[in-house]
Amino acid sequence: MLRVGVIGAGSMGSGIAEVAATFGHSVIIYDNAIGARDKFENGLQRNLQKLIEKGKITAETGQAITGRIRFVQKLQDVGESDVVIEAVVEDLKIKKGIFSELEQVCSHETILATNTSSLSVTSIAAACKNPGRVLGIHFFNPATLMPLVEIIPGVATDVEVVQKARKLIDSWKKISVLAKDTPGFIVNRIARPFYGEAIRILEEGLATKEEIDTAMKKWGGFRMGPFELMDFIGNDVNYAVTETVFREFWFDPRYKPSFTQKRLVEAGFLGRKSGRGYYDYSNGNSPAEVEVNEEKANEILNRILVMLINEAADALYLGIASKEDIDLSMTKGVNYPKGLLQWADELGITNVYQSLLNLYETYCEDRYRPSPLLRKMAKNNLRFYA
Ligand SMILES: NC(=O)c1ccc[n+]([C@@H]2O[C@H](COP(=O)([O-])OP(=O)(O)OC[C@H]3O[C@@H](n4cnc5c(N)ncnc54)[C@H](O)[C@@H]3O)[C@@H](O)[C@H]2O)c1
Repeated sequence: MLRVGVIGAGSMGSGIAEVAATFGHSVIIYDNAIGARDKFENGLQRNLQKLIEKGKITAETGQAITGRIRFVQKLQDVGESDVVIEAVVEDLKIKKGIFSELEQVCSHETILATNTSSLSVTSIAAACKNPGRVLGIHFFNPATLMPLVEIIPGVATDVEVVQKARKLIDSWKKISVLAKDTPGFIVNRIARPFYGEAIRILEEGLATKEEIDTAMKKWGGFRMGPFELMDFIGNDVNYAVTETVFREFWFDPRYKPSFTQKRLVEAGFLGRKSGRGYYDYSNGNSPAEVEVNEEKANEILNRILVMLINEAADALYLGIASKEDIDLSMTKGVNYPKGLLQWADELGITNVYQSLLNLYETYCEDRYRPSPLLRKMAKNNLRFYA
């Protein structure tokens, strides 16, 4: 068993600490906020109590998990860890400061990981004299429940460090995928059109948000429609990810944020957490399904789906991840009903390519340019899977 250090005891850090302790590791967790310790300990007890009540763990197991976690008051106290996972605020300067300090207090063997969602792992690693032991280990929220973890080597990360980290995460019964250090890694890059294209359809007045959500759920098999999901994630959080990805891709129009969502954020219509987002949740209301005729539903689904497939194909084309990891990421990280590349095979690559080309010709916008990979595949009648 290892000694796992966690820096930051917010939503992600506390979940990661709980997972590591559940799998028998001793955990040292540090957070610099006043009251962070009480908040963490109360949250942990609440989670464990729920698991005990549901019969998922015994009271003894709950106690053992609690006993393996030690909350410390200084960053230096995390120094005796074998692996440290940093999950503090998404701020490059703060993260760099922490990594530079960690390097001084940890042994040369300690693996140093960041849970960043959108910053460059390479840039964080560059704060260390030995960036070879730094990598990204990106959990999804909530870390205790979501099975996917993206493993992201920086430019200088040692191969053995990546292998060790992956082995550790797999031993926590997670599904690890390997991603290149590029904005949004796999999931947060490929998922952008689920939101962006849905908003675009709404802005063009082609369908209502209720129709779009219903089409994606009833015809596409998605658990939530795009507007429901944005309200669930929080429009502030979802908009911030879109804006970061857009900026980090040097303003590629594919990732352009929308005024519709920006205005919601400005109005404080953040979604479920503020009682109102795209939908009104006051009085316990939930978005209702509406009637959508089949032709319209198929048009909505096809347009959003081909844009998602285009992203997935382009990520494969640019070596962001393997085709298996791309498909696993979307099914295990965001619960898509099917892997996008498998879905592309089922629809027919030529059909997907033609749909994209139609959009591209209709709008004359770079946003709709088909991935060169799809173009090649359509030309040669190829599939992603045999
Ligand atoms: N929330 C998500 O859905 C999600 C998912 C995956 C990854 N992430 C990433 O995980 C990281 C943490 O996100 P979160 O949602 O848990 O944030 P959070 O705001 O819930 O928690 C961040 C914690 O870091 C602490 N902190 C800030 N500066 C610190 C410092 N210098 N030293 C020690 N502790 C410090 C804060 O007190 C806070 O408790 C971010 O990098 C985020 O991008 C978030």
